[in-house]
Amino acid sequence: MKIAVPRESEAVETRVAATPDTVKKLIALGATVSVEKGAGTNSRIPDADFEAAGATIAADAAATLADADVVLKVRRPNADELKAIKKGALVIATMDPHGNEDDVKAMAKAGVTAFAMEFMPRITRAQVMDVLSSQANLAGYQAVIEGAAEYDRAMPMMMTAAGTVPAARVFVMGAGVAGLQAIATARRLGAVVTATDVRPAAKEQVESLGAKFVAVEDEEFKQAETAGGYAKQMSEEYQKKQAELVASHITKQDIVITTALIPGRPAPKLVSKEMVASMKPGSVLVDLAVERGGNVDGAKPGKVAMVGGVKIVGHLNMAGRVGASASALYAKNLFAFLETMVDKEAKVLKPNWEDELVTATVLTRDGKVVHPAFAEASS
Ligand code: NAI
Repeated sequence: MKIAVPRESEAVETRVAATPDTVKKLIALGATVSVEKGAGTNSRIPDADFEAAGATIAADAAATLADADVVLKVRRPNADELKAIKKGALVIATMDPHGNEDDVKAMAKAGVTAFAMEFMPRITRAQVMDVLSSQANLAGYQAVIEGAAEYDRAMPMMMTAAGTVPAARVFVMGAGVAGLQAIATARRLGAVVTATDVRPAAKEQVESLGAKFVAVEDEEFKQAETAGGYAKQMSEEYQKKQAELVASHITKQDIVITTALIPGRPAPKLVSKEMVASMKPGSVLVDLAVERGGNVDGAKPGKVAMVGGVKIVGHLNMAGRVGASASALYAKNLFAFLETMVDKEAKVLKPNWEDELVTATVLTRDGKVVHPAFAEASS
């Protein structure tokens, strides 16, 4: 059982899909591990540490991937990598398949068995494999750090002999995993925090972190959660009421962090141009949904946009900006999943194709797109 860990090819990607700790664990499962030279550099893991953990360091992607039975990645493999991966190999990554259906087909055509970690069901057994949670947690934290760095005032209230600095007002839109961590982080920095969400369950969580909940709490709000715990797409009327409430609230805020997402859909537009224009000069918005179309009008992917006197932070890959921490958690998520597909006695790969962790995440197999959400589109 050979496991390959290539270096991520995208410039913005600092993370790596294994750490010395998970390499040791993979070897204990009976695997040999090949890590591409420099794969851990941007997560502050030197090749020597991977070697010390028992991995071999391969000179390039082709050598890393040759004959691998399992490929662990952060992002889905590109065309060159697919050429180097043998047919039937398991490829485990965040595949980001929505809107990238051609790439899903390419993985099927290459004959690899691709697993999308972001489709891991949110059941107790799979919590340790939940990459959305582990990465969103860090992204929420980092969003506040980036926001605070762009803000040209102090965050906490400071009473000094020379006068008082007021506490910053931080508004967090979307109180899922990222939003809750953003609330906690902003509170630790001393800000006065408010937050909104469309899921009623979020209210108690927001309040338990010491923030004030601000939302349109009508009948639709009471029903706005799917069985899986995710937000639903809200009606136009609701969005209008929500926008009015947000408009009056946002003008008084110093830092706004937006994290609102609906699985499989573009991010809901929550902050309009007019709302941005209504904010005081020096205010900062951080749009964590920028990769999915953005919550803030005027957010530019990968840029800090100046709109009037207001900054809109649109960094890509926010979790990757704390790459060393993000890799440690991500690698653990992947190991936990792979471990369920290994026969520990015989020390061989033996996926149970009926297991719900497998059926929920497998995208392609035996040359076909097999995930129900994508199979039809591809045929
Ligand atoms: P997400 O990343 O899909 O969305 C972020 C947040 O945006 C959500 O709270 C969502 O309700 C909110 N949102 C969507 N549309 C909005 C709008 N128009 N206005 C304001 N907010 C909007 O969500 P995430 O972080 O993945 O969490 C979703 C749920 O899953 C939560 O209930 C969380 O507690 C639960 N969860 C369960 C886990 C488990 O059981 N293993 C692990 C992690 C999260």
